[in-house]
Amino acid sequence: MALSQVLSAFCISFSATTGLKIDFNCQDNLPTVSNAYAATIYRMIQEGLANAVKHANASAAWVNLDVVEKEITISLEDNGQGFNVDTAPAGMGLVSIKERFQLLNGSFEIESSVTRGTRLSGSLPILDEHL
Ligand SMILES: Nc1ncnc2c1ncn2[C@@H]1O[C@H](COP(=O)(O)OP(=O)(O)OP(=O)(O)O)[C@@H](O)[C@H]1O
Ligand SMILES: [Mg+2]
Repeated sequence: MALSQVLSAFCISFSATTGLKIDFNCQDNLPTVSNAYAATIYRMIQEGLANAVKHANASAAWVNLDVVEKEITISLEDNGQGFNVDTAPAGMGLVSIKERFQLLNGSFEIESSVTRGTRLSGSLPILDEHL
């Protein structure tokens, strides 16, 4: 199954169990990615959605999977209460997601504010083997 289908199915089932409304969007014609890429992106969405329910009290989330230039980008936004990224207690969740992206020469960022909720963005370079 393609990554976009796996993510879409996960979003539907997560939404059904938690009541969080999730809008999943994926660009057409994504390259086929390696298992390491797919696992990293999948873990990010699992962790980010779990956090949106556990910490944010969010009612909705938006997931976008795209290709931008030579990178695969994945973003997750929630409409919850947000948090201070610099002072929040560190958990294992977001730290390990960031490590996974960095191990694959990608990047991972967290932006959050009380008025705008939380946005996670990850990107991974598209390699020749993916094309
Ligand atoms: N979407 C979010 N909305 C509000 N606060 C968040 C959100 N995501 C993370 N946080 C805050 O950042 C902290 C760190 O998140 P992280 O996922 O790393 O750890 P955790 O969820 O507390 O524990 P773990 O993921 O290891 O079970 C959380 O404890 C919470 O305070
Ligand atoms: Mg967590």
